[in-house]
Amino acid sequence: MFQKNKTKPTMSYNLLKGKQGIIFGALDEHSIAWKTAERVHAEGGNIVLTNAPIAMRMGEINKLAEKTNSQIIPADATSIEDLENLVTRAMEILGGKLDFVLHSIGMSVNVRKGRRYTDQKYEWTQKGWDVSALSFHKTMQVLYQKDAMNEWGSIVALTYMAAQRVFPDYNDMADNKAYLESIARSFGYFFGMHKKVRVNTISQSPTPTTAGKGVKGFDGFMAYAEKMSPLGNATALDCANYTVSLFSDLTKKVTLQNLYNDGGFSNIGVSNAVMEAFIKD
Ligand SMILES: NC(=O)c1ccc[n+]([C@@H]2O[C@H](COP(=O)([O-])OP(=O)(O)OC[C@H]3O[C@@H](n4cnc5c(N)ncnc54)[C@H](O)[C@@H]3O)[C@@H](O)[C@H]2O)c1
Repeated sequence: MFQKNKTKPTMSYNLLKGKQGIIFGALDEHSIAWKTAERVHAEGGNIVLTNAPIAMRMGEINKLAEKTNSQIIPADATSIEDLENLVTRAMEILGGKLDFVLHSIGMSVNVRKGRRYTDQKYEWTQKGWDVSALSFHKTMQVLYQKDAMNEWGSIVALTYMAAQRVFPDYNDMADNKAYLESIARSFGYFFGMHKKVRVNTISQSPTPTTAGKGVKGFDGFMAYAEKMSPLGNATALDCANYTVSLFSDLTKKVTLQNLYNDGGFSNIGVSNAVMEAFIKD
């Protein structure tokens, strides 16, 4: 007689067995990069973790390194020198070229210091752009020039839909994300043509992390997105899982894409749940 397999389905499928790479941006356990590192490790991947030296002072990342059996190399992602050191050392530690890289970095000084979009301090605008957008180009340029990626490797950066549509309090980060997404396409062309490496961005739902909660009115905004999205907001873990699929061999021909991981929010005009708030009687 047919016996149904009653063992609990496991979340891990060894999708990244034998693969290795760098994960930027794990600040604490809420970070999307943190969840991604845990999932990549569970799927058999080997990782080098990195973050800005200033973020290391919190010491949280050591816990993640222990959990995922990985080493940490500090790097300010705006510094070519730091990035060169990171990529060289990561290849030494991992014993070869890289199969995946996650860019999970964002910061706006204008947002942090409460300057509105109509009253920017441009030094801060430039700093935020360098950290949040140009750092992706710098990272890829270092990887490209050092020929650090294996063929059929995968590079992913995280973005938000304010690159396409207006979300007033997202401030200058909207412009940074538009720039970041464009870099993914432009550099993705060269990486595809010359190195057989794919480059994509994941456009993620609002997620309660340090960077996310820094945006004015974040809680209301998250609740609104939840009510608008047929599948609800995507969590940090959902994003980590999607990233694993993009690092795996199951998505080899997906490149130059901005991929929405948002429960359907980006294609919704209005939902009944949101309409109810406006219907009288
Ligand atoms: N949280 C959200 O609602 C949301 C939604 C869509 C996209 N994203 C994007 O996801 C990514 C990860 O953010 P998160 O939400 O996990 O928040 P987070 O605050 O946990 O992560 C942001 C990371 O950027 C790092 N960073 C800042 N300056 C840096 C520098 N100079 N060099 C290297 N690293 C630096 C920080 O140390 C931190 O680890 C960002 O690109 C963010 O814009 C977030």
